Amino acid sequence: MLKPLIWKDGTLEMLDQRILPHQQSWISYSTADSVAEGIRDMVVRGAPAIGIAAAYGMALAAFSGADLVEADAVLRASRPTAVNLFWALDRIRDLRSSEPEVILAEARSIESEDLEMNLSIGRNGAQLIPHGANIMTICNTGALATAGHGTALGVIRSAHQEGKQIHVWSCETRPRQQGLRLTAFELMHDGIPFHSISDGMAASLMVAGKVDCVIAGADRIAANGDTANKIGTYMLAVLANHHGIPFYIAAPSSTFDPTLPDGSHIPIEERSATEITHIEDVPVAPEGCPVFNPGFDVSPGELISYIITEKGNFAPPYNFRDILK
Ligand code: MRU
Repeated sequence: MLKPLIWKDGTLEMLDQRILPHQQSWISYSTADSVAEGIRDMVVRGAPAIGIAAAYGMALAAFSGADLVEADAVLRASRPTAVNLFWALDRIRDLRSSEPEVILAEARSIESEDLEMNLSIGRNGAQLIPHGANIMTICNTGALATAGHGTALGVIRSAHQEGKQIHVWSCETRPRQQGLRLTAFELMHDGIPFHSISDGMAASLMVAGKVDCVIAGADRIAANGDTANKIGTYMLAVLANHHGIPFYIAAPSSTFDPTLPDGSHIPIEERSATEITHIEDVPVAPEGCPVFNPGFDVSPGELISYIITEKGNFAPPYNFRDILK
């Protein structure tokens, strides 16, 4: 199984997702500061995976005798939108221990529980996928974004493993191209039939009757089901609803933030202009071109047909204050 990170000989090894699929290179991390930098630079990315990386970052801090309060603060400041990061760091903080082995054991549990949750999400979500379905997805929500199997891509993976002859439309996901680079890589790895498409093709495929459902992951889900995910997801939610196509979100309970009543409170990360103006370090826009680059958008809960979790599939109206956490 593909893995985004491995704890090995007292260091954290992370697969450099910035250069996949053409180079498979592992970077070794030995401090919480460097892990935070790896999260910020998207060496590791995907909501569950950055939570796991941060937990191991705390283990690194404990083993080196670093100040754990400072390490926690640096990791919390790495990326703002995915709540899994804060959820994992809360779990470490709630241990109230600076014992390296205790923190490492908790990081390992966070990782193994994530894999278990994803396998359940896959089983639950596959019930919604009919035989022969054409499924549209965005970004990368697979093994590379999690401890393994994936969330939205995990549902696709489970449906394929169950023998349903599905086909995937995988959106490119500008600007970082997680769909084209990472989801395509995972789908090819598993032999799942698919086509990569540019993001602007979604509507024309839907109106042509070539999409049976859309499934995306999540970075943070508010109490009313409003869901932050990769920029472009909201566009798919609106399009799917307009065309009468089911729109699903798949996420583990670590992605829910019931402290937020709705999506307007979710902090949306703004990333650098060069992600838009450059492709693979090659400038494509006029120099000085003004850019707006939010990494995420929020799909309203009422546009989501089901939120698929390890605890079951939930339909609107949502009230996650009581169901999860
Ligand atoms: O900026 P990224 O690549 O970290 O964004 C990832 C996504 O938006 C995913 O859809 C989300 O984190 C769910 S991953 C299981």
